[in-house]
Amino acid sequence: MKHVLVTGGAGYIGSHACKALASAGYVPVAYDNLVHGHRWSVKWGPLEQGDIADRTRLDDVLARYRPVAVMHFAAHAYVGESVTNPGKYYRNNVAGTLTLLEAMRDHAIDKLVFSSTCATYGVPQHLLLTEEHPQHPINPYGASKLMVERMLADFDAAHGLRSVCLRYFNAAGADPDGEIGECHDPETHLIPLVLDAASGKRADITVFGSDYDTPDGTCIRDYIHVGDLAGAHVLALQALEAGAASAAYNLGNGQGFSVRQVIDAAQRITGRAIPITIADRRAGDPPVLVGDATRIRDALGWSPRHADLDDMIASAWRWQQARERRMGEAV
Ligand SMILES: NC(=O)c1ccc[n+]([C@@H]2O[C@H](COP(=O)([O-])OP(=O)(O)OC[C@H]3O[C@@H](n4cnc5c(N)ncnc54)[C@H](O)[C@@H]3O)[C@@H](O)[C@H]2O)c1
Repeated sequence: MKHVLVTGGAGYIGSHACKALASAGYVPVAYDNLVHGHRWSVKWGPLEQGDIADRTRLDDVLARYRPVAVMHFAAHAYVGESVTNPGKYYRNNVAGTLTLLEAMRDHAIDKLVFSSTCATYGVPQHLLLTEEHPQHPINPYGASKLMVERMLADFDAAHGLRSVCLRYFNAAGADPDGEIGECHDPETHLIPLVLDAASGKRADITVFGSDYDTPDGTCIRDYIHVGDLAGAHVLALQALEAGAASAAYNLGNGQGFSVRQVIDAAQRITGRAIPITIADRRAGDPPVLVGDATRIRDALGWSPRHADLDDMIASAWRWQQARERRMGEAV
């Protein structure tokens, strides 16, 4: 049995990766301190409750399972909070990851797939970002992820710890079987917020800026289905197992959707009216942020299976409704 340690395995994307790993024949061991994660989302292997900064706990878990690799999702991921409380982000995302890497080195675990982000690029200098775009993050969250990318390069050079950094654009949607899905508190992602407005849990949805230089005046972002993200992690792991060198790949859809397109699609799918409030632009929000995922297509044969916006929103809506029905139970 091949175990894979999945830090943050009780979180949104980590739990989908656990499901994908199990389908590919691995045993995912979710290692999560449950600060944001949920016990109920760990279904495809054991949950080891622990913090990535806790070296003693990590040593115990790594010695017991002897994982072939680590998938590293554990992090704080609220951009706004990272600006007001940068220490929290550098401590968890950077110092915590350093503890994890040193533990891996000492247990001779030499493969890691890392959740990086398009936030490492900062302000786009051109449309359709490739991996060669300069990395100048404009917030501590993005900076913390870039620091980890740099640590990974150094751990490869010094200790032969090979890694794949996956720079995600906006994760969206839910498991097509409805077993798991997004459940953040607080929620800051557009699609679940729009669906909360559709179901009446929020009064309305705020659109920050309607006068951008885009076809409908609202910001355009690249959404990638969480199942496609999870699949890419398994491909990255298999490439590392086959001996591939360290690499960094964008994970996006390659096509952008505007805030207004997301709201229109959600109205269509839910059949509900979604009230909107137009507010001023937010500082630091570029008009268009879309990734070029050609490199991972060419290198790993990855391609999105749920690239359709309606598909993503429909899966998220099914998940939200099922979750509400189960509210009194485990969720
Ligand atoms: N959601 C997105 O759109 C997106 C985009 C780009 C990058 N990412 C990155 O992907 C990863 C997963 O994001 P998500 O949306 O699933 O977030 P999430 O909050 O749902 O999952 C993160 C998990 O990590 C756990 N965790 C945090 N700190 C920990 C620690 N010190 N020790 C152990 N566990 C810890 C949390 O409890 C949580 O279960 C993050 O690293 C995030 O930065 C997410």
